[in-house]
Amino acid sequence: MQIKFHTIIEPFRIKAVEPIRHTTYEEREAALKAAGYNLFLLKAQDVLIDLLTDSGTGAMSAQQWAGMMMGDESYAGAKSFYRFEAAVREITGFKHVIPTHQGRAAERILFGNAANPGDIIPNNTHFDTTRANVEFRKATALDLRIPEGSQPQLIHPFKGNIDLEALEQTLEQNPGKVPLAMITVTNNSGGGQPVSMANIRAASAICHRHSIPFFIDACRFAENAWFIKTREEGYADKTPLEIAQEMFSYADGCTMSAKKDGMANIGGFLALNDDALAQQCKNMLILTEGFPTYGGLAGYDLEAIAVGLREALDEDYLRYRTRSVAYLGEALTGMGVPIVQPPGGHAIYVDAKGMLPHIPQHEYPAWALSLALYLVGGVRSVEIGSVMFGRQPDGSEKPSAMELVRLAFPRRVYTQSHVDYLVEVFEYVNGMKERIRGVHMVEAPETLRHFTARFEPGQEGLFAK
Ligand code: F0G
Repeated sequence: MQIKFHTIIEPFRIKAVEPIRHTTYEEREAALKAAGYNLFLLKAQDVLIDLLTDSGTGAMSAQQWAGMMMGDESYAGAKSFYRFEAAVREITGFKHVIPTHQGRAAERILFGNAANPGDIIPNNTHFDTTRANVEFRKATALDLRIPEGSQPQLIHPFKGNIDLEALEQTLEQNPGKVPLAMITVTNNSGGGQPVSMANIRAASAICHRHSIPFFIDACRFAENAWFIKTREEGYADKTPLEIAQEMFSYADGCTMSAKKDGMANIGGFLALNDDALAQQCKNMLILTEGFPTYGGLAGYDLEAIAVGLREALDEDYLRYRTRSVAYLGEALTGMGVPIVQPPGGHAIYVDAKGMLPHIPQHEYPAWALSLALYLVGGVRSVEIGSVMFGRQPDGSEKPSAMELVRLAFPRRVYTQSHVDYLVEVFEYVNGMKERIRGVHMVEAPETLRHFTARFEPGQEGLFAK
């Protein structure tokens, strides 16, 4: 007999706690000023609820901590490596498993060996470090997301899909210039939106027809598998593991940040089938990351990832995770705050252009909204808009397609009352949104400027009277 209850609870109890700290409005005002109005430059202790990222910020399980005690710190051939390799192989099926210290190191090693100046890398949407690593090789990072993906309000089950026609055209028109194509699951920069199995299968077929390797940026593969299970016909009775295995079966390799669906605080990997490319990548790995059986990680990190990858595929966990994100999304929608619909897997993305139409894009509406959320409630989010993506490789400025504020949920960290608090903060900010003002960038590096750029508010301050 099965008795059904509606409340989806956190499927864990808390064994260790980490206090978080309240600050006053005046303290937050001073902290913002000192940080050049850049939330990346705040001290974390001045943040009450930190939704800057879901990367490396999760809580590990008792089993992961126990696994860490089994860490084998041998320089070469450690037991921990083989446990890590077995976990990655079970899920992805790839022949070569190359550990790295995080996702971007896997990207750098892959593109450092596979991409050359003038090449084109298609992707549904490149994440910022992926784009930067492609551009660092003087290649072009081409985003080919389906048009539905750039309309925040539009409901579509798989808004992360790659535009198959555009992919086909790109490959046809650029023979010899596309060393590999990629698909990012879930599509982080595009609103955390999932990619369907049908889309992965078709993109893979197109690539292979042109003899081009097809890679997956797998950071949030488990969340993507969950959306396939719950939204795509034919997958309801499959386990998340079986779905993930099928996703990877269409690919020739993947890059992975284990700081996301690896449930670890650090780590990543590059996995692939091509022997020659794998050898080149391992050679570069030794140069900059470490020997191929540890790749810049401690043995205990490899253990945490081996356990974490499997925990990320647990159904109760995935149900709770996607539900807590949707819960915030529903509350915001209920109060009229426009968000990217439907809610994604790891985060809610507020459509700042829609919420603050009075702030022109060159005054960075999403950046301004993220500052307001901090000032009002001590909440840290991240801009995914023209600060992050507005600067073009030739140095010119082009406003980004969307101005989003991402509220990313660390895994297994916050509970429902934290989310209820967030809802209250949004109610306040939404009630005074006409008074929110834009900012000016006064200092910025050439690449990845959002991390360190400094800003100033205009004459009226962050909020008009
Ligand atoms: N690919 C995607 C889709 C990502 O979201 C990230 C990181 C990376 C690659 C790079 O991985 O950080 O381990 O080097 N995203 C984090 C975020 C930073 O906040 O979304 P990394």
